Formats: sequence, C-alpha cells, structure tokens
Amino acid sequence: MSAGRDELVARARAARKHAHCPFSGFAVGCAVRTADGRIFGGANIENASFNLGLCAERVAIFSAIAQGAREIRAVAVVTGADHPVYPCGGCRQILAEFAPRAGVTLVWRDGQSLETTVAALVPHAFVTGDFAASDPADRDGDDGG
Ligand code: THU
Repeated sequence: MSAGRDELVARARAARKHAHCPFSGFAVGCAVRTADGRIFGGANIENASFNLGLCAERVAIFSAIAQGAREIRAVAVVTGADHPVYPCGGCRQILAEFAPRAGVTLVWRDGQSLETTVAALVPHAFVTGDFAASDPADRDGDDGG
C-alpha cells in the first residue's frame, strides 16, 4: 500500500471507533480523500428506528460534500469481518455520483486488504446524464410524440 493509502486507512480505522452500531454490532469506518486533498472520515450510525441508519461510506461522503468537496478520488473502508466487505448497493450509487474515478481500499480482519475501483463496483451506473439527455415530452419511450 502507498503512503497515501496508509494514511487514508488510518483515518478510516480512527473513524470506525466512533461507530454507533448497538443493533448490528458491526462497526464500519470509512475515509475519503477529495480532489483537493482533504480527508473526511465517517462511521456507521444506527437508530432504534432501524431503517434510518446510515452506512459509514455515506456518512464520510456526505460530510465531504457538505464541506465543499465535489469529487472524491480515493476511499478506504475498514471492518472487523473475516472476509472483505464491499459497499452496499445504496452506497455504490452514492459513490458513482461523487467518486466515479476513485480507487477503493477494503480492509478487514488483521489488516488484510484489497484494492478495487468504483468503476468496477458500479458498472453501468445510473448517472445525471441519463435523464438530462431525455425528452421530457416523450412518455411512452418510442419518441413518436
Ligand atoms: N454498513 C456499512 O456501514 N457499510 C457497508 O459497506 C455495509 C454495511 C453498516 C450498516 C449497518 O450499520 C451495519 O453495517 C450492518 O448492516
């Protein structure tokens, strides 16, 4: 792993300590590096109303965006699982929006790690251009008016 990756993983590990996961007991930490070089961390935050919980990835990404970042170039996710844990489908869609060119480092038990990319995790992503290019008057998909 490069020095940059090491730092990002260290920040994800640190963020993981703040996970609020009393229901699953599964603590996840994430850190993202923005195009302008800043790093933002996040941890999963659960709620007694289960469906309101948020994954570590989204907490980190939304924190970056809320503080002015627009593109994320690198992502690290740390869990304590005995196998690699990949971002959920919802987080992959968020990654496609804000981190389409990012590398992703997954770290699991005993510091084992692998490298992948958002492009590999989200093939054929649904993106803004998909609807920006559509004709709002065409409701039956045949473009015949
Ligand atoms: N979780 C994450 O934070 N990131 C993932 O990539 C997968 C799942 C969280 C959500 C929930 O708090 C717990 O793990 C169990 O699903």
